[in-house]
Amino acid sequence: MYTNLGLIGNPLSHTFSPFIHNYFLYKAGICGGYTCYDIESYELEDIILMFQRYHFTGVNVTVPYKQAVMNYCAELDITAQNIGAVNTLHFTDNGIIGHNTDIFGFHMMLETSAVNTANKRVLLLGAGGASRAVIPYLTINRPDYFVIANRTVEKAQDLSLLYDNKADICKLDELKGLEFDIVINATSMGVKGEPYTDYGFTIKEAAVDMIYKPKITSFLSLYSKNNIKLVNGLPMLIYQAAGSFNIWTGCDITPDMEYFNKAVYK
Ligand code: ATR
Repeated sequence: MYTNLGLIGNPLSHTFSPFIHNYFLYKAGICGGYTCYDIESYELEDIILMFQRYHFTGVNVTVPYKQAVMNYCAELDITAQNIGAVNTLHFTDNGIIGHNTDIFGFHMMLETSAVNTANKRVLLLGAGGASRAVIPYLTINRPDYFVIANRTVEKAQDLSLLYDNKADICKLDELKGLEFDIVINATSMGVKGEPYTDYGFTIKEAAVDMIYKPKITSFLSLYSKNNIKLVNGLPMLIYQAAGSFNIWTGCDITPDMEYFNKAVYK
């Protein structure tokens, strides 16, 4: 049997996901393929019907459809319910099940980088879709002090609801002079390599970026001389993919990060 996997989003021109999943298929000895569908929002329903008609096993979902696809799910697992977003669709005999493996990806990114937010002073930059995956991890590994800073402060307030309203909220330009142990960048600033604005806070232990390209992202480069841990978003990308692959195939892949590091940054 051929295992059909795919990705929907817009734009997809720079995605690395087919490389990752076709490699996982090869490693797991599964005959199949992973293809990308760069779609407009009016095409969403048709393409989901197409996936069902052609017996797809699973599809990843990226920006801007992580919320819209929830309307087509017969069921949402606890991860997707927790943060109100789906990045993995699983086509089953009981209908489409929506999952969110970004949460697992974020968890593994910190764990494999030996960064832990428990009892630390933590700052989260950004309050968009990507930042939602951070909250379940922080709920378990509770910081002493947690601030969400966003350009649009109302969105930070919304995000704080997922954290029982227990985070401090501020604007990015109110961070000057503050000190944190761990800072997580979940804004899309720097995604095209543009310079990152220095908001004047200091970091004592680790700078973590959800962006993975270049290896030292614009955000990380601000702190590259500070003798702190710098973590880019590659582990999150790879581990969320491994989580999806596990849901679709039952195969528990331990990603070879050295291989992916070489492949992405060669
Ligand atoms: P994603 O799904 O990648 O998180 P998103 O939901 O559009 O994308 O969120 C992007 C995040 O980056 C938001 O927090 C956004 O701030 P606003 O909520 O104020 O829009 C932030 N962001 C994007 N460009 C920014 C910029 N130039 N300066 C500051 N913050 C920026």
